[in-house]
Amino acid sequence: MKEAPHDASLSTAIRRFVIVGHNARTDGEFNLKDIPGTSGRLDVLARCVTAGLLLSNGIRKDTLVYLLLRGLPGPAKALRFEGKHVKNLNPDERSSSSLIQNALRIPVSPGGWLQAGPGIDVALAERPLFDKEFGGLRRIVMAEDGESIGNVSLRNAVMILGGHTDLIEEDVGLLGSEGATRVSLGSRSLHADHCVTVAHHIMDSKVG
Ligand SMILES: C[S@@+](CC[C@H](N)C(=O)[O-])C[C@H]1O[C@@H](n2cnc3c(N)ncnc32)[C@H](O)[C@@H]1O
Repeated sequence: MKEAPHDASLSTAIRRFVIVGHNARTDGEFNLKDIPGTSGRLDVLARCVTAGLLLSNGIRKDTLVYLLLRGLPGPAKALRFEGKHVKNLNPDERSSSSLIQNALRIPVSPGGWLQAGPGIDVALAERPLFDKEFGGLRRIVMAEDGESIGNVSLRNAVMILGGHTDLIEEDVGLLGSEGATRVSLGSRSLHADHCVTVAHHIMDSKVG
């Protein structure tokens, strides 16, 4: 399997989202006809990929979406979707879940990203991988009890969200997000993919 090529666009992408799936299966062994029931709620993460990358008639080329999968059978894996290069990503959940499934079936070993398809890479999820990937970027954890998003700069940042459950201490350790700014979209608990859409809207309004 090919090592993911170094791409300068990775360091110039201006929007980065990480979504953590605590129960999300790491081996791709789930049924595309029953994604919520067989995948450890990968459906939630699949919706975040489309919310992060798709426009109604196009793709957000400036955005990267990362999934951190921490379910069975382990070890934890990371997936990276790059708007600039991804292909065959459609709005329906089955299509994005199928891309996820194919990527998870690729055997990975420590040491970095492997290319799973155009704009899709897979890796073992280890702290050094994220330290390298997010070096120099601020970590922003999205949480209901955080500071209002309007008061926080979202530039040069990685936005980290829970999937169907909130982040736990181990996620913080893996992602190097100790001391991250907690940012809120209000006190009501929203679905993760809706948070991604709202965050995009806020950034679209602020920076064009
Ligand atoms: C479905 S929620 C997780 C579960 C939810 N916190 C609960 O216990 O009911 C998924 C993730 O979306 C983000 N999120 C949800 N509502 C939010 C809000 N109002 N402001 C900021 N982030 C939010 C958080 O990162 C959260 O972990």
